[in-house]
Amino acid sequence: MKKKLLALSFAMAFTGTSSILHAEDAIDAGKEKAAACVSCHGEHGNSLVSIFPKLAGQHSSYFLKQLQAFKNGTRKNPIMSAIAMGLSQDDMADLGAYYAAQKISANELPILDDDEDEKPATSNASDKTPLQAIIAQGSDLYRNGDLPREVSACIACHGPFGEGSKPAAFPSLKSQHADYLIKTLTEFKTDVRSNNPDNMMHMIAKKMTTEEIKAVAYRISMMK
Ligand code: HEC
Ligand code: HEC
Repeated sequence: MKKKLLALSFAMAFTGTSSILHAEDAIDAGKEKAAACVSCHGEHGNSLVSIFPKLAGQHSSYFLKQLQAFKNGTRKNPIMSAIAMGLSQDDMADLGAYYAAQKISANELPILDDDEDEKPATSNASDKTPLQAIIAQGSDLYRNGDLPREVSACIACHGPFGEGSKPAAFPSLKSQHADYLIKTLTEFKTDVRSNNPDNMMHMIAKKMTTEEIKAVAYRISMMK
């Protein structure tokens, strides 16, 4: 009996180590392949250009789905489609493992345009700066949604910290660039981006105003 248990635990320890080794191999291979992505997505997936999404810390499940969508044309972006065309299934898996293991960088506070500085988003926000008022509006929408208008609370799928869900392939959003978030939410709203299951993000974004999209994007960009 003891011998059997010992053999069993040895076998388990062994399979455990080999899958860890396998994951490390994928991360190493992904790191090399990511050299082709650095110019736009930055070192370790922390892009410096705010309309290029950060990839650091993204769930590999969501990451893979997007690369496949660019490759088969269901998510339309000329740059990324051309790049995804050249990637095999193994390349995508290695890149996904690498980026998921990177740490996303924090953002600076957004800077408002001059006209926004003059008119606060909510009139009763006298004790808040215009930026604080917009972020508070975004925070409320993120947590509570707007049920009468059928805007679901983002927290339900993207989590209290914007961390998303790996098994459900709900993307991690925290510390993403606000400019990219605004762009992609606007594309969901107008149905330009429509590769997601049941078009759920379209159903949500089409009910949101331009101001709400901006507010929630600013809030998410500040989540760590
Ligand atoms: C020339 C610039 C450029 C290069 C190089 C590039 N990308 Fe992109 N990538 C983009 C842009 C722009 C987007 C946003 C597309 C959109 O708005 O739909 C994007 C989006 C993505 C997304 C979707 C992110 C999300 O949050 O939905 C993934 C995944 C991705 N790129 C992976 C890669 C990988 C892997 C490489 C290298 C093999 C790479 N990209 C190289 C510009 C680039
Ligand atoms: C019912 C679940 C659900 C809810 C609620 C939800 N989302 Fe999503 N969201 C998703 C899924 C699934 C995707 C991935 C879509 C795809 O595969 O293209 C996504 C994608 C996104 C993306 C794209 C991320 C990227 O890296 O490109 C953004 C931004 C986003 N959601 C913001 C929001 C905001 C803001 C709210 C609240 C107003 C919200 N979501 C509510 C499920 C949800």
